[in-house]
Amino acid sequence: MKNENKTPRLLRVLKKQEVHPAPVWLMRQAGRYLPEYQAVRAKAGSFWTMCMSPELAVEVTLQPIRRFDLDAAILFSDILVVPYALGQTVRFEDGKGPVLGPFAGNDQLIRDDAVWAGKLAPVYDAMARTRSELSSDKPLIGFAGAPWTLAAYMLEGESSSDQRTAKLAGYRDPKGFVELLSILADTVAWHLVRQLQAGADVIQIFDSWAGGLPDQCFLDWVVEPNRRVVEGVRKVFPDAPIIGFPRAATQRGYQTYAAQTGVDAVSIDTAQSMGWAASALGGEVAVQGNLDPIALIAGGSALDAAIDRILTEAAGAPLVFNLGHGVLPETPPEHVARVVARVRGAA
Ligand code: CP3
Repeated sequence: MKNENKTPRLLRVLKKQEVHPAPVWLMRQAGRYLPEYQAVRAKAGSFWTMCMSPELAVEVTLQPIRRFDLDAAILFSDILVVPYALGQTVRFEDGKGPVLGPFAGNDQLIRDDAVWAGKLAPVYDAMARTRSELSSDKPLIGFAGAPWTLAAYMLEGESSSDQRTAKLAGYRDPKGFVELLSILADTVAWHLVRQLQAGADVIQIFDSWAGGLPDQCFLDWVVEPNRRVVEGVRKVFPDAPIIGFPRAATQRGYQTYAAQTGVDAVSIDTAQSMGWAASALGGEVAVQGNLDPIALIAGGSALDAAIDRILTEAAGAPLVFNLGHGVLPETPPEHVARVVARVRGAA
């Protein structure tokens, strides 16, 4: 009993226990809304330099933990390190976001894990250093993009509203496209295993572009590749706690994802009710997320009501308190402090 209570709250929830107060962390908790992040970024010059400089990545990973005492840290990195390892060029343009070089075809991808290990060494170094600096009661989260979302960036070359180029590739050349997703699933699983070996305690898989897909495409391009990633990780780490985020999936999509991928928790976007998620998914997996990042910008009684609604609706289910998507740059840091206090019953 005593030992059990020493297990960090997040890890207990991921074993499907209901925990009071719910553990709380936020997607994109390290980022531009924090002045201390802005200071490091200004010194580094670019976002990518921060990702590839372990001492800077460790520093910005720890900033939100120091300021807000969140229940978990998530390594500061990006999902696009995997396309980079596979040989595609990646750069970030201010005001625009990521820009990738042309996709040269499946057979041009680098399939040599010694090369990946060399290119991504700063990420694993940052993970190991963060784990050694972070207090042992705070789990450290590693992450990767899911195959479909990575394929969308690799084929589109940038963020897009409808992932048209990637979808066209999936329709016109289903064999080649599914092969790309399999290559990505294996590479992503490898990257997650390396993060666990370097000290990550939990893994999250981001399928940010899972919304708006026809049902069969969701099964083939989201559910199956995520299942394959989970299987690949569990071959090496059978007990690794894994959170999946098929953002903006339909209710049927979330249910299928929860039932078939093998994840321990599903992160829910802003459009669903937490009450629905807790009753439809809460028997199978823990539920995470759902707070609207724009309510977090707004603050005040709208924010308080939104927090309370999630806590009430999730009662009885294993809950990880989080947002439905990442913290936005306009967010006042005090509002994040308010969330942490209110989830803990102190505000
Ligand atoms: O959550 C965390 O605090 C950990 C760090 C993290 C970042 N990106 C840092 C980041 C994580 C988990 C990600 C994941 C990521 N990256 C996703 C999946 C989650 C999501 O938001 O849907 C995606 C799609 C990316 C790709 C990416 N990286 C985009 C589209 C952008 C530009 C958009 C933006 O917000 O500027 C980034 C840049 C990025 N990744 C920033 C941060 C803190 C902003 C960089 C900066 O200008 O300082």
